[in-house]
Amino acid sequence: MDAAAGADAAGRRDVLVGRLIGAVLGAVDLFNVYLGDRLGLYRALAEGGPATPAELAGRAGVHERYAREWLEQQAVTGVLDVDDVDDVDEQAARRRYTLPTGHAEVLADPDSVHYLGYMSRLVASVGQVTPRLVEAFRSGGGVGWAEFGADMREAQAAQNRPIFLALLGAEWLPQIPDVHARLRAQPAPQVADVGCGAGWSSIAVAQAYPTVRVDGFDPDEASIATARANAADHGVADRVCFHVRDITEPGWTGRYDLVAAFEMLHDLPRPVEALRAMRGLCADGGTVLIVDERVEDQFTAPGGELERLFYGFSTLCCLPTGMAEQPSAATGTVMRPATLRSYALAADFRRRRGSADRARPVPLLPPQALTSDPRRRADALQSR
Ligand SMILES: C[S@@+](CC[C@H](N)C(=O)[O-])C[C@H]1O[C@@H](n2cnc3c(N)ncnc32)[C@H](O)[C@@H]1O
Repeated sequence: MDAAAGADAAGRRDVLVGRLIGAVLGAVDLFNVYLGDRLGLYRALAEGGPATPAELAGRAGVHERYAREWLEQQAVTGVLDVDDVDDVDEQAARRRYTLPTGHAEVLADPDSVHYLGYMSRLVASVGQVTPRLVEAFRSGGGVGWAEFGADMREAQAAQNRPIFLALLGAEWLPQIPDVHARLRAQPAPQVADVGCGAGWSSIAVAQAYPTVRVDGFDPDEASIATARANAADHGVADRVCFHVRDITEPGWTGRYDLVAAFEMLHDLPRPVEALRAMRGLCADGGTVLIVDERVEDQFTAPGGELERLFYGFSTLCCLPTGMAEQPSAATGTVMRPATLRSYALAADFRRRRGSADRARPVPLLPPQALTSDPRRRADALQSR
């Protein structure tokens, strides 16, 4: 290696070292956010105001010594403000910590479109299955969605809930005029929500269109139980029903004005069969609506932050989920528009919009862009 190549290699090495150390700091931050989120520590600070370690321990029901260490960690890393940083040990117990208002919205307000506390649960759920991932990489098998457990299921729901409730009925569906008109027409429109998870998309559609009836389907029993409770809590259980059902199983009947699938097609081992089944569920003139991650049209490396995020969760969750059943299309999170188009054509959708075909796929863009600005997240969902 000549001197220039050696300097270049050393430079790249040092950049990577710095980046990985930053990643470790980010990872330990996220796991401490997980503790604050799961144990209700942020909520206790948001609702009860500034607290000493003993006060926080009392409010949240945790051990005082752990409360103190966590509070100090959160202050050192800049999440909490502290009123006294005097380095005298006996003062440690008397320090009072504050969750700044802006941070409270991000960490303790699940209704806010800026809420990101769930992110720590996404990462923690992957931590629980890493031995299974190693095994899957070797064997070519997979790790089923249910194996990621409550952390993944609840984080997925928490991620999309505020966005569905705020934007799905108010902004996204009105941008598809024929669907919007049909959901406001009589007789009462019927909607199928395939892979509904905790049911927030179904609930959002029912809230936005007061006469529609929604059937939500998901093979995951725990998700359906949560979805039923969510619909009851939101007063739409009379119009929104949830069913434990796999879209790729045979025997589907029913006719729907809208058959929607939110952030799930790329997880399926058999996406073409799923699209064909969704198409079969459409009433005359009905629409199949596929909402999935806004990935780039083509592979590019290095990629931007969103593409990094999508690939990151693809290796750790979506691809293994899709490969848990074999044979599998093995799509992964990064389902390119051309891939979706090829699945749709294989499922007998027509190529042209506005054709006489009674069902057509409408590719929308991804649930959530890496931005704290809800308007820009909404932009990420504009139809192409
Ligand atoms: C990433 S989650 C998305 C959940 C929800 N649509 C959302 O946007 O929050 C994917 C969902 O698809 C469901 N799913 C997986 N395979 C399915 C299948 N064959 N039929 C219907 N749903 C399926 C999973 O159980 C899971 O709830």
